[in-house]
Amino acid sequence: MEKELLALKSEKNAVILAHNYQPAAVRAVADAVGDSLELALLARDVTADCIVVCGVLFMAETAKLVNPERKVLLPARDAGCPLADHLTPGMIEKAREEHPDAAVAVYVNSTAGCKALADITCTSANAVRVVRSLAEEEVIFGPDANLAAYVQRQVPEKRIIPTPPGGHCYVHTGFTLADVEAARARGCTIVCHPECRPEIQERADIIASTGGMVRGGATAGCWSVFTERDMVLRLRSLYPDGTFCEKADAVCDDMKKITLAGLLRSLEREEHEVTVPDEVMHPARRAIERMLAVPE
Ligand code: 13P
Ligand code: SF4
Repeated sequence: MEKELLALKSEKNAVILAHNYQPAAVRAVADAVGDSLELALLARDVTADCIVVCGVLFMAETAKLVNPERKVLLPARDAGCPLADHLTPGMIEKAREEHPDAAVAVYVNSTAGCKALADITCTSANAVRVVRSLAEEEVIFGPDANLAAYVQRQVPEKRIIPTPPGGHCYVHTGFTLADVEAARARGCTIVCHPECRPEIQERADIIASTGGMVRGGATAGCWSVFTERDMVLRLRSLYPDGTFCEKADAVCDDMKKITLAGLLRSLEREEHEVTVPDEVMHPARRAIERMLAVPE
């Protein structure tokens, strides 16, 4: 199937981009694997006819927003992100009414409709940098309240307004103080994603996006990785001498909806094309471009 897929990819002049949480079989046929920010940057530069995003809907929508001329396919129509669904355009409008002087920074794990109402977007890799770049002192930030708390600690000079107050990812909020204790008992370094709860972040040794984990993964010793389970497989493949521990039930069900068979079918039939309505395209694109222009 892998051979067939690679032949089809060149026949269709397609590029396959996969998120770090994708299963190993899917990562193996991808042209590039990365975190949300890396995938957005890669998608922006694609000159091939078609971009196949092996990830979830917001990642495919982001690819379409940064490179609207390309056909963007998501191999599983229903691969969404429950965190993204915590925020609605109505919540942003209400927050703007309540805080008229605040900027609106929306996490890329959001719908295109929410991005269209934002001043700027961010990912977990650049959220601190993005918020620091804003002139406004108050920042409406959503949908992830744990990432908002992380940003608030890093940028104390601003007032972050989490919107909605309890927005969260069920995979990351599954990590508990018992997991921290177990990791400590094994003598592991704890690396956590900023979508984990503040009490976990406070006890972690490293807080990083999935891309940050890839870049820092060569560190010696044992790593307890507090994010989606397949991230550990990715780290093991990159650093075969490293010791990485996962949490068995930290699984993002939507990420696993992408399979090699589904990918083949999607490319063959060019099905599950992701589009963004015209009225949303321009303002959402502007918010993403603004993020991409924030200096490193
Ligand atoms: P990253 O941008 O760190 O890859 O995170 C995306 C995500 O969905 C985390 O759950
Ligand atoms: Fe969304 Fe959480 Fe899955 Fe990431 S792990 S795609 S935030 S549900």
